[in-house]
Amino acid sequence: MKLVMLGAGGFIGSNLAEYLIDRGEHDVVGVDVSAEKLTGISGGNFRFIEADITKAPDLTDDLISQADVVVDLVAYANPSIYVEAPLEVVRLNFFENLRIAETCMRHGKRLIQYSTSEVYGKNPRRQKFIEDESDLILGPVVKQRWIYAASKQLLERMLHGHGLRGDLEYTILRPFNFVGPRFDYLVEAGTRGGPRVFAHFMSALLTGGPMYLVDRGTQRRCFTHIADANEAFTVLLESPGAANEVFNVGNPDTDTSIRDLAILMQKIYEDLTGKSTHNELVEISGEEFYGVGYEDTNRVPPDISKLEGLGWKPRFGLERTFRDAIQYNLGQDHE
Ligand code: NAD
Ligand code: UGA
Repeated sequence: MKLVMLGAGGFIGSNLAEYLIDRGEHDVVGVDVSAEKLTGISGGNFRFIEADITKAPDLTDDLISQADVVVDLVAYANPSIYVEAPLEVVRLNFFENLRIAETCMRHGKRLIQYSTSEVYGKNPRRQKFIEDESDLILGPVVKQRWIYAASKQLLERMLHGHGLRGDLEYTILRPFNFVGPRFDYLVEAGTRGGPRVFAHFMSALLTGGPMYLVDRGTQRRCFTHIADANEAFTVLLESPGAANEVFNVGNPDTDTSIRDLAILMQKIYEDLTGKSTHNELVEISGEEFYGVGYEDTNRVPPDISKLEGLGWKPRFGLERTFRDAIQYNLGQDHE
């Protein structure tokens, strides 16, 4: 198959590109504003074009017209951006993504759309998140953190509506906190906001700085090894049963609080390096860490029976997931 991967230079995209090059089954054209994370990732079946899709509609139109499947990974995906620049989030994550979907419709191409587990929002009843059953409950407008989930949710609803009308063949993935190599970027000790939690805690381990526990670190997440995520992608790419369906991509067995994650990452770092860690665990409010308009949520484990029904199962537990990601960072030149 010929794939066009938009946002190929990001965390998920660079890992997917590497994985698809190794498999060698599909021809992939990757597009991104930045090639930094693709350094050293190349192969005969992968071609990269550096471009801003918002400024190159003719290019994206042309690439989509020549593809069999379009993989859309383009988005702002860090909570600090949702708080600082909510309008930019809607512009990119909803309007630009909708334009990509419309281009797919015009050319009759299948779309694989990365959405988010955040669309589930809050979960007062603490039941598992089930794709076609769970309510999607977002916080108040003044908490602009929810602009990301709202944009992704509206995009999903548009794709569903077009699917019903027979305009579009799509598959929606809802990733649950993927972790692996090339995750976001490292920061200086004591930085607030910025990247997602793994990058913060990894930076703290490397610099000896504090590990901030937002709202006491009691909130929970399920993390997914990027290798499991890559396999989920190919299962969905190749399954006829994925047409016009939504899938959770997550690992329900990795459910942890963020405080316990900080302690686990310290332990893994000590095991791998033989050095002691001295990171202070510092409690901080969400508003102090991200700014006014942040609201956090406890997530519950995803129900993954729908994707298991297509033959996928996550293989990597919590400790292995973080061991591999930490090991990758230790192999880089940071020390
Ligand atoms: P990322 O920020 O690493 O990747 C997004 C990529 O899109 C970046 O490389 C960025 O440069 C690119 N991009 C942004 N604007 C662009 C433009 N105008 N033109 C071309 N490229 C542009 O994020 P990620 O973690 O790889 O996430 C990829 C997708 O998966 C996003 O849609 C995100 O919302 C979704 N997602 C990710 C996770 C996760 O665990 N990483 C979880 C839920 C959802
Ligand atoms: C993220 C982003 O919204 C998206 O990448 C993605 O769509 C979504 O996860 C998902 O995987 O579905 P979030 O889970 O809040 O949202 O991701 P992080 O920024 O990694 O934060 C996880 C938790 O750690 C939050 O409770 C946050 O407050 C906390 N945190 C973060 C800390 O306690 N300390 C830190 O230094 C950083």
